[in-house]
Amino acid sequence: MAIITIPDEHRALSDPEAITPYLASIGIDYERWEPAHPITSDAPAAEILAAYSAEIEKLKTLGGYVTADVIDVNPQTPGLDAMLAKFNREHWHDEDEVRFIIHGRGIFHIHPRQGPVSAIEVEAGDLIRVPGGTWHWFNLCADREIRAIRLFQDPAGWAPRYTESGVDSGYQPVCFGAAHVPPLPSQTQL
Ligand SMILES: [Fe+2]
Repeated sequence: MAIITIPDEHRALSDPEAITPYLASIGIDYERWEPAHPITSDAPAAEILAAYSAEIEKLKTLGGYVTADVIDVNPQTPGLDAMLAKFNREHWHDEDEVRFIIHGRGIFHIHPRQGPVSAIEVEAGDLIRVPGGTWHWFNLCADREIRAIRLFQDPAGWAPRYTESGVDSGYQPVCFGAAHVPPLPSQTQL
């Protein structure tokens, strides 16, 4: 389940009943795909796309998406910093940005034309649709890992267009989600 923070109002939303309507009010579609399909998060991309094919086809029909792929990012990804630098400044796209998170975490900051900036921390099982034209930016969490299904109306139209507003520099990409802490050896025997 995503965690929403509204830094300018010192407010956070983690109640599942509150998250979807709040995001809808700022133009963001959010849903959970549950139950998750029984597939490991490190399965080959083709297997993940096959496991979620019913959901993907439904979204394609609803949103006019024509292709889907799996984006895989981790600290070993060549050129990771350059890749992230393209998306961590306020921008928009002509096309929707649609992500279903398979593994890892990240933060979308959304800057509505009216209203405060909202941070959406996404995790496995979260589907988010950022409509074309929405001002936003994206950061990974500290472990710098994410794996997600992406859907495209036209991959060629998905280039970032920067606002150059500098608004993004006023918000820290702080993740609140449970960090993975390996169990102590004594706990593994319980
Ligand atoms: Fe984007």
